[in-house]
Amino acid sequence: SQASPVSEPATFSDRGEDKYANVNWDELGFGLVPTDYMYIMKCSLNENFSRGELNRYGNIELSPSSGVLNYGQGLFEGLKAYRREDGRLFLFRPEQNALRMKMGAERMCMPSPSVDQFVDAVKQTVIANKRWVPPPGKGSLYIRPLLIGSGPVLGLAPAPDYAFLIYASPVGNYFKEGLSPLNLVVDDEFHRATPGGTGGVKTITNYGPVLKAQTRAKAKGFSDVLFIDAVKKKNLEEVSSCNIFIVKGSVISTPATHGTVLSGITRKSIIEIARDYGYQVEERSVPVDELIDADEVFCTGTAVVVAQVGSITYQGKRFVYKTGAGTVSQRLYLNLTGIQMGLVEDKKGWIVEV
Ligand code: COI
Repeated sequence: SQASPVSEPATFSDRGEDKYANVNWDELGFGLVPTDYMYIMKCSLNENFSRGELNRYGNIELSPSSGVLNYGQGLFEGLKAYRREDGRLFLFRPEQNALRMKMGAERMCMPSPSVDQFVDAVKQTVIANKRWVPPPGKGSLYIRPLLIGSGPVLGLAPAPDYAFLIYASPVGNYFKEGLSPLNLVVDDEFHRATPGGTGGVKTITNYGPVLKAQTRAKAKGFSDVLFIDAVKKKNLEEVSSCNIFIVKGSVISTPATHGTVLSGITRKSIIEIARDYGYQVEERSVPVDELIDADEVFCTGTAVVVAQVGSITYQGKRFVYKTGAGTVSQRLYLNLTGIQMGLVEDKKGWIVEV
């Protein structure tokens, strides 16, 4: 289906200020910069989503007894819109986000938008906020779809009503380190996910529990936490907000997605790009011991893109990795971002014009 174009708003005086004028496009980080419009579509349990609309960005009204507030019945997604030199706007594999939301909705007993509805809604949101897509080279428009149990429940049960929302914010680099290497710490007290739980789907409830370990790590000067599995306590899982890869020679390994590791779209794309380059990519259990003699370590995610890891500290020992130009991770980063920005041919049909 076609995205319906929305005309650029003429005036923002109804907002009391025009935040747009104050954006420093050269220093975008990953903080919220509210944009003009958000998308909203509603439906009831056991029904299908049918029609959504764009509203001015702002607070939403929610019952204090909503499923999402009381029982965490919610999912989110993340994807980006990129502006090219000619002004055209593109998305990267948005149907993958739609499919992942459908899988997650099934796990969380929620109705979900169809793939076409999801992608059409994302396009409408980008078009309505197009002035907020950063100039080429300055960042991207991060798009945050949410699916929440919005209706009231008291006893534990699926909520009676649901809302699919999308908002957006211009962003630059995710980590305050910018493109400098990350220094991670392995946390062997707190775990992110357990077998049979929801670690493999993008529920909102996977993220809050990470904060304690992340805050503790940051207080000690680390960039973020690398989590290990909760059962054997010996295999790598993922970093708070991204997947992890290790490189040894021409072999690239990453934890398999068997339910406790999120199936990242950047993860999946990097695996394909690496195989096309001739690397042997293994999705398997990756013991924490392999950190000892890895050549390189890097993280992948929509927000994070491909981030080099300079060191990992585990049980007081610090392991250091190759970073900078000429690394495997840099080669993969340049290819991925080249495809996203239209500088490298999109042979796989990953790019979708808005
Ligand atoms: C993303 O990379 O889009 C995510 O959803 C991670 C989030 C914690 C920023």
